[in-house]
Amino acid sequence: MKRIIKISAVILALVMAIGSLCACGNGTSTENPSATEKLVMATNASFPPYEYVDDNGGFAGIDVEIAGLIAEKLGLTLEIQDVDFGSIIGGVQSGKFDIGMAGMTVTDVRLESVNFSTSYAKGIQSIIVPEGSEFKSFDDLSAKADVKIGVQQDTTGDIYITDDLGADHVIQYKTGNDAVQALVTGKVDAVVIDNEPAKSYVASNEGLTILDTAYKEENYAICVAKENTDLLDAINGALAELTADGTIDAIIAKYIAA
Ligand code: ARG
Repeated sequence: MKRIIKISAVILALVMAIGSLCACGNGTSTENPSATEKLVMATNASFPPYEYVDDNGGFAGIDVEIAGLIAEKLGLTLEIQDVDFGSIIGGVQSGKFDIGMAGMTVTDVRLESVNFSTSYAKGIQSIIVPEGSEFKSFDDLSAKADVKIGVQQDTTGDIYITDDLGADHVIQYKTGNDAVQALVTGKVDAVVIDNEPAKSYVASNEGLTILDTAYKEENYAICVAKENTDLLDAINGALAELTADGTIDAIIAKYIAA
């Protein structure tokens, strides 16, 4: 009898424990500081000021800070994985990563594979050329018969330039920084990349400048697997709070001079 009571006490304790675990899984404000569950974010950390590796070897940037606060609001621990930009969406789709956050532009084609959160920032595709270059506009570049433009592989810059000029005129690099180094060493005539990383690369490399003409305007958002709608809702809830209390603006202002 004693034994039976003991066993039922254990079962009761187990049922209660499972019950409390399930309670953590729903809703946006699952504030649980003792949570050991992770939010795995895939990024490509060669894209300052959104994500980069800082002097201490840690991840830093606008996306890294926003993701950290979202994870905190969801009671999760943020884990960042630095991968090729082109493998983020596939990895999110397959469940290898929970989210993709990488200054990632919302496009109709990407929306066929993943869902996007509400947008938290805007981007513009810019054109970097050597200082004193003969090219003053995108039209000047497209008028050159054998023009070569450097891009980061699989980014919207890559997609737009390939659509506009054809793959023969595009040289794809693994990172934005690799594309910029190709420009510095004269292997390409220009680089098309998002405006804030463009400013950062121009500041850290002599002899480059950004053309005045913006090439395309875009919205950045976080991607989540199609079926993961609870996570998407939770992220949108957290983003709404972080927008309403001015946190997102403050983080962006910390990295981008107005
Ligand atoms: N906004 C562009 C895109 O979505 C480029 C993003 C590149 N991001 C990065 N972290 N390397 O295609």
